[in-house]
Amino acid sequence: MFKKLLVATVAVGCLGVAGFGTLAWQPAMAPIAPPATASFAPELVAKGEALAGGGYCAACHTRKGGERFAGGYAMETPFGAIFSTNITPDPETGIGNWSEAAFARAMQKGVSRDGSHLLPVFSYDHFTKLSDDDVRALYAYFMTRTPVHATRRPNGIPFPFNIRYLQAGWKLLFFRPGRFEPDVTRSAEWNRGAYLAQGLSHCGACHTPRNLLGAEKFGNAYGGAVIDNWVAPPLTAGNAAPTPWTHDELYDYLRTGASKLHGTAAGPMFPVVQGLRALPDSDIRALATYFAELDKAAERLPYVSGAVSLAMSSTLAKEGAPIDPDARLYITACASCHYNATNAPLATRPDLSLNSAVHLADPSNLIQVILRGIGTEEGMPGVVMPAFGDALSDSDVARIAAYLRRTRTDLPPWPDLAVKIAAIRRQYEAAK
Ligand code: HEC
Ligand code: HEC
Ligand code: HEC
Repeated sequence: MFKKLLVATVAVGCLGVAGFGTLAWQPAMAPIAPPATASFAPELVAKGEALAGGGYCAACHTRKGGERFAGGYAMETPFGAIFSTNITPDPETGIGNWSEAAFARAMQKGVSRDGSHLLPVFSYDHFTKLSDDDVRALYAYFMTRTPVHATRRPNGIPFPFNIRYLQAGWKLLFFRPGRFEPDVTRSAEWNRGAYLAQGLSHCGACHTPRNLLGAEKFGNAYGGAVIDNWVAPPLTAGNAAPTPWTHDELYDYLRTGASKLHGTAAGPMFPVVQGLRALPDSDIRALATYFAELDKAAERLPYVSGAVSLAMSSTLAKEGAPIDPDARLYITACASCHYNATNAPLATRPDLSLNSAVHLADPSNLIQVILRGIGTEEGMPGVVMPAFGDALSDSDVARIAAYLRRTRTDLPPWPDLAVKIAAIRRQYEAAK
């Protein structure tokens, strides 16, 4: 894997050196004196604040326990750890002496003020779609934050991946710069959803699989991908859940962190829901409209009631058979909360026969949720699923996962449960 990457990157690098000198070389932009807070209209700053939420800038630009937007958050990539930058208006260590033009170039072209190319872990390949007005509002918001002096941590990426000049080759191959182009054949709401999904909220950054060079695969938008030992499920008709992600289900999930017929936004999806809170309901509806069309919810709608009654009956029937020792373990550990006394699933108590985690080809999300639980803040605010990491052994977790797969789906057993549990257990212990 590494060798392949190396060969490919060196090849890209050679291309970069041979033909693309002009693209690769970007001038430094002159530093400016930090603009006065009063020079930005309060409405523009407020608009920028909402956009910063919808783009989750804080999630990546704030390290654990650190000051908001002061950077230093480590992102693990196959190429090594990359640390985010300080985007508070500190003139020395942040973006205090960046002009609006320099900021816009970073967002829309992935080039830093000093002319160096930025790495695509910063989602500039999506932010390039942002309108100039939205970039102006973001600039106003960041330039009016309290400056924090925080020097950038050097990246841990090895040679030759650390040569920023080579990023020009990557850009040439994979980067399509340019503002969002509305599709005039569709509604304004659909276009707003597309703008947010493809641009500001960069849903594809996690939900679209990437190639060996870390670029999203153009032909497989939202086809599902693995991130940090979690699966970001497909948002297309290929989604594994027994009931489709309809407009209403998507709206509930993105607005509140949970939906009745699916489940909860946990793990890396939680900061997304948290960030989206800054956007108005109309924007969340627009996202729901865009994705409900993409996953062909309307065509799958007739199957909903059947899937729900099947799920309810399997929940009730299977727990009634305590001779099965795996069922007994499930009843002891899980069924006090995950049962359904009525025929209507509740968001506060996800029905596991309907949950994607049990239906995905990869058991990671189910294992993650069992080990880590879901805190008060995550998923639905105020509702908790306890962490079983310390209470259940790896083999107990494997038994429960296999039991749910066997009794709640007609899919083949997961072949790699033990390996996945061990890997996620290591991650869980390290994060303690
Ligand atoms: C997925 C994580 C992630 C998100 C989300 C994110 N950034 Fe970043 N950003 C980074 C990383 C990592 C870098 C450093 C890239 C590098 O070293 O090449 C960066 C770099 C930048 C830079 C260039 C700073 C410099 O000194 O060169 C700016 C400006 C920036 N981000 C603004 C934003 C804004 C505004 C948002 C929200 C709309 C945002 N970022 C969202 C990870 C992220
Ligand atoms: C930082 C990575 C990341 C980003 C960005 C992201 N997602 Fe997710 N998403 C995930 C992960 C991981 C899960 C699985 C979470 C779970 O099962 O609790 C998920 C789950 C989902 C689900 C539930 C799917 C299912 O079948 O259970 C939906 C719907 C969804 N995301 C929509 C979106 C939309 C819309 C956006 C953009 C507004 C988005 N996501 C952005 C990582 C991400
Ligand atoms: C004390 C009650 C309780 C127990 C016990 C419990 N859960 Fe949960 N579980 C919840 C709640 C509540 C949620 C929804 C959390 C939220 O929205 O914050 C949840 C969510 C889930 C989800 C959905 C995650 C998603 O991303 O959609 C899965 C899967 C899950 N639990 C599996 C289990 C398994 C397996 C067990 C037994 C090992 C278990 N739970 C035990 C209360 C519980």
